Amino acid sequence: MKLAGKVAVITGGASGIGESTARLMVEEGAKVVIADMSDELGTQLAHELNQANKVATYVHVDVTNETEVQHMINEALSIFGKVDILFNNAGIGSLSPSAELPYEEWRKVIAVNLDGVFLAAKHAIAAMQKNGGGSIINTASILGHVGQAQTAPYTASKGGVVNLTRALAVEYAKENIRVNAVCPGYIETPLLNQLDDEMKNHLISLHPIGRLGRAEEVAKAVIFLASDDASFVTGANLLVDGGYTAQ
Ligand SMILES: NC(=O)c1ccc[n+]([C@@H]2O[C@H](COP(=O)([O-])OP(=O)(O)OC[C@H]3O[C@@H](n4cnc5c(N)ncnc54)[C@H](O)[C@@H]3O)[C@@H](O)[C@H]2O)c1
Repeated sequence: MKLAGKVAVITGGASGIGESTARLMVEEGAKVVIADMSDELGTQLAHELNQANKVATYVHVDVTNETEVQHMINEALSIFGKVDILFNNAGIGSLSPSAELPYEEWRKVIAVNLDGVFLAAKHAIAAMQKNGGGSIINTASILGHVGQAQTAPYTASKGGVVNLTRALAVEYAKENIRVNAVCPGYIETPLLNQLDDEMKNHLISLHPIGRLGRAEEVAKAVIFLASDDASFVTGANLLVDGGYTAQ
């Protein structure tokens, strides 16, 4: 078990990549705080994971609201006693020609995907400092490394996450807090529900491996970065993209 005795907070933990990671973290011996806005799915997942032992709890959070983010970390501390791992994963998509994009939509995507990552890191770091260290994994994207049409706020937010990861890694390395990012290619999760089959087939053709990724394939990379196997890894952006950015 790679995460025995660890406590992890997972934002966006009720669905997709976050849900898969919550399941795998519990298999690897961790206790998890599933933090999300999707209360029904999150509560159901925590209930399912708690069948044998109390290993999970659900907390409502909007990652753009600092008071709620602080509450999320406080709940982890009061229920499980510490925070060893933050999987900073909540995110939303956006698809629109930039010249037609309402400014409110730009602000919303940046608020969730970038401000939210900063706020959760800020409050988790304070808890990790008291605990002698920790590991933060941010979910960036291939679109933090390359551009794509009609996704300006998403691409800008994920580019921000890539370099925020480096900045925090440098700042907290001496305090034994490692900060890394996973950068998935296109992964089959509810985030892609808005795409039609033609678009999905086009996306498949952009991945040399010839298919979209699975949430568990990202979760395995997250487990590596969270665990002591990655004890000398900080400031890294681990691409999990089927070769998308290698071409
Ligand atoms: N699916 C992909 O192709 C893909 C590719 C690269 C990166 N990502 C990133 O992976 C992460 C997870 O996405 P996913 O594909 O699992 O999507 P998903 O929609 O299945 O899960 C995202 C979760 O985040 C939650 N969320 C959204 N806004 C929130 C907020 N303000 N506060 C708290 N929770 C909020 C949602 O309720 C949902 O449960 C996102 O950051 C996304 O940008 C996804």
